[in-house]
Amino acid sequence: MKKSLVEDTQKRLSGKQIAPTILTIFGATGDLSADYLLPALLRMEEHGMLPKSFRLVCVGRKELNAKSYFDFVLKKSTVLKKLPTKVKQSFLKRLTYYQGNFDDVASFTGLAKLLSDHDQPNKHVCYNRLYYFATSPQYFSGIAHILKNSGLLMSCKAHERKVRVLVEKPFGFNYKSASALNKLLKKFFEEEQIYRIDHYLGKETVQNLMVVRFANGIFEPLWNNKNIDHVEISVLENDTTAKRAEYYDQTGAIKDFVQNHILQMLSLITMNEPYNLTTEDIRNEKLKILKALQLPAGELRQSVIKGQYAGYKKEVKADSQTETFAALKVFINTPRWQGVPFYLRTGKALHKKVAEVTVHFKEPARCIFRNCTANVLTFRIQPDESVHLQINNKVPGFGVDIHQGDYGFGYKQAFMTELPGAYERLLLDFIEGDQRLFIRSDEIESSWKFIDSITENPEFKNLPVFSYKQKSAGPKEADEFIKKDLREWRTK
Ligand SMILES: NC(=O)c1ccc[n+]([C@@H]2O[C@H](COP(=O)([O-])OP(=O)(O)OC[C@H]3O[C@@H](n4cnc5c(N)ncnc54)[C@H](OP(=O)(O)O)[C@@H]3O)[C@@H](O)[C@H]2O)c1
Repeated sequence: MKKSLVEDTQKRLSGKQIAPTILTIFGATGDLSADYLLPALLRMEEHGMLPKSFRLVCVGRKELNAKSYFDFVLKKSTVLKKLPTKVKQSFLKRLTYYQGNFDDVASFTGLAKLLSDHDQPNKHVCYNRLYYFATSPQYFSGIAHILKNSGLLMSCKAHERKVRVLVEKPFGFNYKSASALNKLLKKFFEEEQIYRIDHYLGKETVQNLMVVRFANGIFEPLWNNKNIDHVEISVLENDTTAKRAEYYDQTGAIKDFVQNHILQMLSLITMNEPYNLTTEDIRNEKLKILKALQLPAGELRQSVIKGQYAGYKKEVKADSQTETFAALKVFINTPRWQGVPFYLRTGKALHKKVAEVTVHFKEPARCIFRNCTANVLTFRIQPDESVHLQINNKVPGFGVDIHQGDYGFGYKQAFMTELPGAYERLLLDFIEGDQRLFIRSDEIESSWKFIDSITENPEFKNLPVFSYKQKSAGPKEADEFIKKDLREWRTK
């Protein structure tokens, strides 16, 4: 099936009245903006995904103008340089650069005027105002105050406008800081205006977790502790912490990847079917899982393995004990999942980059053949986005030997089109006001509560940090950890 992104976008946008919108990005000269946000917006321009009246204001400390800022972004990416000139020109027409320093609130007084110059209240044109907090979290509170005190949240006299804020990760460093940030944001905004991002939720294959589960009648009857032996979620990265070493050293693998990407995928693969596909129904079901997360009883070392790649201490220039690798065993205390272990694993500087969710079914209660093996359903989130089901088959011949075959569905082969990028999808949702793929305050607080039960446990800092070679599969202790339970990591 060949289906183009342009066609899909046109279908999505057709008939929709998208109000005139200005997106203001704070931290527009940072890596996130230059590497992900601007490229996503440019691809949206290329695919006709940006409403005609869409405008973009990029805020940074550097002295730049729209043209020099745009050149700065293009210089960072060879892919963007190759975009048709027409696309670049039409994008540049939407773009304004504004220079401001968060340490100097007065530098933002001109921003309100810049934004309101777009409004034409006499013609009932009042731009929706969207603000993207794409900076280090230390500035989130300052930006919220700037929005309030510099007249950026002002309503438009003639017409109602929507104001939304999108807050980058990390959203807090533990339960206390996350709930303090929620409290602060709620002083200025309603929950419906706050978009907490986890870009994994924008990935096609993560959204597909729900589709495979709830659009196929065959899975729901099997989706419980009677039929599922265990589940593995692995997010392996081959990059070192590199440019983000300083930030990473304060955070570590558990707070960086487990708290958000992995716990979000875990909740999607285990939650009950939402009553409807509405934002609140989905969030309510995810929340029930996040609240029910538990570590096995006993010492923390039985459920958590920490690792650090060789050379990391040199990178951060400190005798750091921060984990660049983590393996965990957790349970979900609900009737459906009693007794089913969930093995979670993530790490940096590993031998490959892959993200997978793998559901291991139980072996048949009785096997009349020589070697029945358990069925395995794997969701390959990235790369080679696909779904695979391992099924036993007869080997040709006169005997009844069994061979486990792979029934695969590959996104690229099936649809023969490029997949929409996660940031494109999430930015479009932000513009349209769709919060389904964003995280609610109580979800984020519950996931931090669970992470705190690990990282704020006094035993945590005394856990050994096992060294592993760069480009390896991680510390051997992580393999021994799962082998103790007579299982092994499927994602090698
Ligand atoms: N980079 C990634 O791959 C990535 C991925 C996912 C999430 N994130 C998250 O996204 C956020 C931003 O990350 P980043 O890597 O883009 O950070 P960054 O490269 O350090 O950029 C930070 C931005 O904030 C601006 N800034 C800093 N201090 C300022 C001040 N006093 N006044 C005005 N502007 C100021 C910087 O301007 P200057 O250019 O003038 O310094 C820059 O535009 C973080 O929360 C991060 O965790 C990043």
